[in-house]
Amino acid sequence: MRFFTLFIVFLFVSCSKDEMKIGDTANIDCTDTISFQNEIYPLIQNSCFSCHEDGSIAPKISDYGNISSNASTILSSFSGEGIQKMPPPPNEAVNDSLIKKFSCWIEQGKLNN
Ligand code: HEC
Repeated sequence: MRFFTLFIVFLFVSCSKDEMKIGDTANIDCTDTISFQNEIYPLIQNSCFSCHEDGSIAPKISDYGNISSNASTILSSFSGEGIQKMPPPPNEAVNDSLIKKFSCWIEQGKLNN
């Protein structure tokens, strides 16, 4: 029983170890300027528009204005930290490299480029 408990603890630690620290943008290397049109908009369009574009499920997420004004909430929702994880499972989670791009876009001042 003790071993089993240790094993479970080990599994938990090894799974959470590699997770990105969301919101910890200081540790992210944002060398390239992220493009809203070419990177951020398509990411949101692919993962979120099916439920949030028309505003029937809040928040309305459809264009630069509402994506930028909800940016930090959207970022948290990718990981489900303190908020429901989006897109909701069993939909495929947004992958880490795209989450990183989104963090960098915020870090760079949410450019409309
Ligand atoms: C399959 C439909 C669906 C998709 C796809 C989806 N959402 Fe949601 N989203 C919901 C529903 C339903 C709620 C309301 C959940 C609730 O209130 O319990 C919600 C709520 C939210 C909220 C508010 C959560 C809160 O706790 O206040 C945010 C922010 C959000 N979604 C962002 C996103 C983002 C960003 C994406 C794309 C990465 C996305 N959603 C994709 C269905 C979806």
